[in-house]
Amino acid sequence: MPLNHHRLLFLLLLLSYETARRLASADPNDEACLSNLRQNLQDPANNLRNWTKPNFSNPCSGFTSYLPGATCNNGRIYKLSLTNLSLRGTISPFLSNCTNLQSLDLSSNQISGEIPPELQLLVNLAVLNLSSNHLSGQISPQIALCAYLNIIDLHDNQLSGSISPQFGLLARLSAFDVSNNKLSGQIPVNLGLRRFNSSSFLGNKRLFGYPLEEMKSKGLSVMAIVGIGLGSGIVSLVISFTGVCIWLKITEKKMEEEEVKISQSMPHY
Ligand SMILES: *[C@@H]1O[C@H](CO)[C@@H](O)[C@H](O)[C@H]1NC(C)=O
Ligand SMILES: *[C@@H]1O[C@H](CO)[C@@H](O)[C@H](O)[C@H]1NC(C)=O
Ligand SMILES: *[C@@H]1O[C@H](CO)[C@@H](O)[C@H](O)[C@H]1NC(C)=O
Ligand SMILES: *[C@@H]1O[C@H](CO)[C@@H](O)[C@H](O)[C@H]1NC(C)=O
Ligand SMILES: *[C@@H]1O[C@H](CO)[C@@H](O)[C@H](O)[C@H]1NC(C)=O
Ligand SMILES: *[C@@H]1O[C@H](CO)[C@@H](O)[C@H](O)[C@H]1NC(C)=O
Repeated sequence: MPLNHHRLLFLLLLLSYETARRLASADPNDEACLSNLRQNLQDPANNLRNWTKPNFSNPCSGFTSYLPGATCNNGRIYKLSLTNLSLRGTISPFLSNCTNLQSLDLSSNQISGEIPPELQLLVNLAVLNLSSNHLSGQISPQIALCAYLNIIDLHDNQLSGSISPQFGLLARLSAFDVSNNKLSGQIPVNLGLRRFNSSSFLGNKRLFGYPLEEMKSKGLSVMAIVGIGLGSGIVSLVISFTGVCIWLKITEKKMEEEEVKISQSMPHY
């Protein structure tokens, strides 16, 4: 009897110790993620003054974080929201070490450089809001490997290249905004035709396809295709009609000649 009690007590102690240990010390991946994220950002307004080394090794206290903008769940960083803080610099690829991250919002700063393709490792990512920054380069197709993505908001940047059709395969996507960038090429059918209206794509001079069809010089609009179809139809009709007419004329002439020959060969009465 007392032995069982002791065992139970020991087990409880072990459990609470384990919980306490997990809450007290950061996951080494989160630590690498946070310290590298901070290192690659410039913070002229000193908004990240509490983002310092001692706080990285202990970013989570239960559900709250000592780091402004970070939110924890089960001792892991699951949300990062650093918006409108005048941040510069680049997005560290080590952000992918925050493997429990579900929401990344760095919108309305002056962050430049590329969106690291390493973000594909964030398998739980549901929200990606990097809008209103100075990001450039391609939107890496690998980002579309984050299968739980709900929101992709990249509007107001300098992103170039085309939009990978892979993004059309994201089943949970409810918001997609790449307006006001330098994107080019065809809008993937699964994004444009099925789900998102023109406001998601406007402000990219060399982007074309539905729902941007009203834009004149880019690609061929439905009206242009119909026009070309009708035009070439009429032209070929005219050509074949003329052909038939000429053929008829020729045969008529031949017939007349034939008739003349026949009438000439016929004896006159
Ligand atoms: C963090 O990510 C890098 C690059 O993806 C990886 O090499 C490293 O093992 C990860 N973990 C830590 C703790 O740095
Ligand atoms: C920084 O941390 C201190 C103590 O941990 C807190 O009082 C202060 O409000 C924090 N500053 C910001 C900007 O979050
Ligand atoms: C977080 O960093 C700030 C500034 O360095 C410091 O004042 C504060 O004590 C730190 N908080 C914790 C919990 O380490
Ligand atoms: C952004 O921050 C500035 C000053 O820090 C503030 O005046 C402005 O209202 C903020 N904008 C938004 C959209 O929160
Ligand atoms: C992304 O962030 C901006 C600025 O903080 C905000 O206005 C916008 O609504 C966000 N996008 C989505 C889809 O929530
Ligand atoms: C586009 O769709 C959004 C909702 O997804 C709506 O708020 C907006 O008014 C629509 N814009 C146009 C031009 O239809």
